[in-house]
Amino acid sequence: MSVEIETLVEKYNTPLYVYDFNNITNRYDELKDAFGGKKSLVAYAVKSNSNLAVIRHLANLGAGADCVSIGEVRRALRAGIKKYKIIFSGVGKKDDEIREALESDILLINLESEAEMKRVEMIAKELKVEARISIRVNPNVDPKTHPYISTGLHENKFGVSLDSAKRMYIYAKKSEHLNPVGIHFHIGSQLTELSPITEACGIVADLVRSLDAIGIEIKFFDVGGGIGVVYDDEVTIRPADYAKAILSQIKGLDVTILSEPGRYMMANSGIFLTKVLYEKINGEKRFVIVDGAMNDLLRPSLYNAYHKIEAVKKEGEKSKADIVGPVCESGDFLGKDVELPIMEHNDILVVHSAGAYGFTMSSNYNTRGRSAEVAVLDGKDYLIRERETFEDQIRLETSCDTSWQN
Ligand code: LLP
Repeated sequence: MSVEIETLVEKYNTPLYVYDFNNITNRYDELKDAFGGKKSLVAYAVKSNSNLAVIRHLANLGAGADCVSIGEVRRALRAGIKKYKIIFSGVGKKDDEIREALESDILLINLESEAEMKRVEMIAKELKVEARISIRVNPNVDPKTHPYISTGLHENKFGVSLDSAKRMYIYAKKSEHLNPVGIHFHIGSQLTELSPITEACGIVADLVRSLDAIGIEIKFFDVGGGIGVVYDDEVTIRPADYAKAILSQIKGLDVTILSEPGRYMMANSGIFLTKVLYEKINGEKRFVIVDGAMNDLLRPSLYNAYHKIEAVKKEGEKSKADIVGPVCESGDFLGKDVELPIMEHNDILVVHSAGAYGFTMSSNYNTRGRSAEVAVLDGKDYLIRERETFEDQIRLETSCDTSWQN
């Protein structure tokens, strides 16, 4: 980060998310370049970090957006992503979300069941439009990742089997209100091995060929997201190898490759800053209590996820400590057995790799306000979301009429 952490803390206080926008540019360029001259679109997975300034930055670079709610579609449009670069996915879309997506004329609505296809058809008919659709297939490939973020096996709720997909394409092709132009899969997140991606691409490419043979022409081949990142010492997928693996499986197909990276783009473009409140020792156990908590960064509590934590400019002999927040849950921790020198009130800790699924998964649990967010670009810092106040939190409650209680 090109701005001093102490300066940022002094200016914006903690808990604080800070994003390195130059790193986002580098991540985007590396992936886009990996596909070389091939037709491709990087559709950023908005769920990983949906701050409008982040999306706007990616929009300026030429990215599209992968959205999973109409709220995310609205964010993408508001931030300047072109409507023809927006995909709307998700297992359970509501009628009004489908209607708005059709009215917004986005690139693709991605279907996850036969029932959903019928609803999209019905709403498209009402609106007298043709819905451009893709179908999410579940290639039944083991992505070799954490079970909570594995999505490409039949035991997961996502997508449809290859057989049902084929039936759905045949139905859609005959419908006046459906235009089946895309195919989609996403086998999981934080993938560090290429082989499951190669395997899934091969399976799905075979389906595209068999559809082509019956006159159904697929134009968009959407490989989902999932590129793993380094949190600790993982060896993960390089964009160049990722693109090569995909291209090797789709030889002879005239398709635009869509990819939906979230974590790859944002995880290591962001840090979370928190200040030390107290140290304490319970029996043998050392705790460093900080002002950031599970409501700010849920990944450690929810997935037991590892985030590297370091003290800012603090010397001295180190020993192990659990880094815990003020929330009333034993599961409220940011790190376990972290080697740290003795910490004092207001010392700063940096929690690394926090740019993806950090702020977006935060909550108001324990009536804690959400953190502020700051962007750093070319050595300058910009506030991109204000710290949430108590008034912000109760705004919707106080607008209620409470006279019935008197
Ligand atoms: N496309 C689809 C259809 C997805 O479901 C996801 C993520 C992505 C793209 C983006 O995947 P990525 O490139 O970020 O791996 N909260 C969890 C991650 C949940 C991922 C859900 N789907 C975490 O903090 O690890």
